Amino acid sequence: MPDANITVNISEVPSHSYPIYINSDNFKNLKFQLDEETKNRKRLVIFSEKVYKLYGKFFNFDKSETFVLKDGEKEKNIKNFEKIIKKAIDLKLSRKDIIIAIGGGVVGDMAGFVSAVYMRGIEFIQVPTTLLACVDSSVGGKTAIDMPHGKNYVGAFYQPKAVYINLNFLKTLNEKQYKSGFGEVIKYGFIEKCCNHSEYFNLINFLKNNRDNYENRNIEFLSHIIEICLKLKSSVVAQDEKEKGLRQILNLGHTFGHALEEITGYRRYTHGLAVVYGLMFIFNYALKNNFCSKHYYDEAYTLLNIYGYEPSKLFFINKTKIIKLMKADKKSKDNLITLIVPTEEGIVKEHKTDGSDIQLSINYILKD
Ligand code: GLY
Repeated sequence: MPDANITVNISEVPSHSYPIYINSDNFKNLKFQLDEETKNRKRLVIFSEKVYKLYGKFFNFDKSETFVLKDGEKEKNIKNFEKIIKKAIDLKLSRKDIIIAIGGGVVGDMAGFVSAVYMRGIEFIQVPTTLLACVDSSVGGKTAIDMPHGKNYVGAFYQPKAVYINLNFLKTLNEKQYKSGFGEVIKYGFIEKCCNHSEYFNLINFLKNNRDNYENRNIEFLSHIIEICLKLKSSVVAQDEKEKGLRQILNLGHTFGHALEEITGYRRYTHGLAVVYGLMFIFNYALKNNFCSKHYYDEAYTLLNIYGYEPSKLFFINKTKIIKLMKADKKSKDNLITLIVPTEEGIVKEHKTDGSDIQLSINYILKD
C-alpha cells in the first residue's frame, strides 16, 4: 500500500479512522491499489457517467460489478438509491463485501449512503474525481440523498474505509466544475484558525499569491491545496465526527448556498458556486451586523475577486422564499436560522437569527 498522506483519526471511535492517499500515479497503479484493497471480496463500483466515459477503460472493472450514475445533483434521488440497492442485491453482496465510489460529490454521497444502510453497513472506498469532492465531500463521512423537501435530507454519518485522490482526474474537469471546487477551497481559508490544526498554512495569503498556478492547474499547487484543505477538514472531523459542535464551521456559506441551489432546482448553480455566493452573503451579513471589520470584509472580497467571483452575477431571486428555505435548513431550530459568521481572519463563530435581519445582506449580492 502507498503511504497515507493524511489519516483521519476519529477520536471518539478510533475504528472509524482511515487513510487519505494523494498522488498523481497512473491509473494502472490506482486500479492495482483498488484491487488489493478489495481482494477476495465481491464489489460494486459506482461510477459517475462522465468519469466512466473518460476513464472506465483504464480501470476495466467487470461490467457486471459496475453501476454508472448520471451526473448532476438531480440524480442524487431515492429512485437511483433504490436501483443501486437492487444492483447490490443482484450481485449478492454480503456485509463482508465492498463498494467503490468513483466520481464527484453526487456519486460519493450516494455510494456512501447505500454503503451505510445496505445490510446495516458495508465498507466503501472513495475515489473523488472533482476538485470539490477531493477537498470536501469525499472526506468526513457525510453521506446522503436529496428529497423534494431539501438537499441531503436522508443520510448518515458513515466514514469510508479509505480515500484515494488521484490528481490526474482534475486535468479533464471542465471550467465550471473546476471553478466550483475552488469555492470550498477558499472557505477553508476563512475558517483556518478555528480548525485546531497544529500547522498554520495562512491559506488566504497563499491563495492570494497563486492565481497563476490555479489558472494553469499546476499539479504541485493542486496537491498542496488539497492536502491543506484535508488536513484542516480531518482535524475538525477528528474532533467532532457527527457535527455536534465544532464541525458546524465547515458549513460557512452553506445555509444561503443550499437555499440558492434549492430555489433554482439544483440546475443553475453548482454546489461550489452556490457556496461562493453564500460566502459573499455571510460577509455582507457580518459587516452589517458588526461581526467583522471593513478591512477583513474587503480582504475576503478581494480574494473572491482574484478567483473571478463577482457579486453581481445572480439573477433575480425571491428573497422571502430564500429566507424561508434557510429556516427549513437541517441546522435550524425553534424557527431560528443558525449561521456561521466570520469575525476575524480565519475565525468564525455561530450566530442564531430569526431571519428578519437577513434581507439586506441578500440584496447586496443580487442584481435585481
Ligand atoms: N461539507 C461539510 C462537512 O463535511 O461537514
